[in-house]
Amino acid sequence: MSFDKVKIITLPKFLDVRGNLSVIEGNKDIPFKIERTYWIYDVPGGEKRGGHAYKNNEEFIVALSGSFDVILDDGYERRTYSLNRSYYGLYVPRGLWRVMENFSTNSFALIAASTKYDKDDYIYEYSEFVQRTKIN
Ligand code: TYD
Repeated sequence: MSFDKVKIITLPKFLDVRGNLSVIEGNKDIPFKIERTYWIYDVPGGEKRGGHAYKNNEEFIVALSGSFDVILDDGYERRTYSLNRSYYGLYVPRGLWRVMENFSTNSFALIAASTKYDKDDYIYEYSEFVQRTKIN
């Protein structure tokens, strides 16, 4: 898997004096049907999340509040994406190693996922990930 499919997607934004609203519709605003959403919050300073790849799961990550970095790695190269707005997010296709770090105080990450939680979909060993990358 390469970075070809990775992209920052700007979401619909309805500006309103009463407060703004943005939306994510699966298979419309993002390129997959949403099977699951989860969120990461109360991250202590200096902590990292992720540190794994998925064999099948695709994700869309939004910084609903605050900011953090998503580091993606295709086995050859690492790229850093900084997220800090609630109206855009990062589409992460399957098969990339990902780490989330540099969380600001009170940051809040929303993640839409294409599959139900399946621990067997995870690759936790970086060496195994690199090996699979070279085979595929
Ligand atoms: P994990 O995916 O390892 O978190 P991160 O990649 O952000 O570091 O998940 C942490 C824990 O939460 C793990 O024990 C499994 C559980 N979990 C679920 O039960 N369902 C889910 O959808 C997710 C994402 C995690």
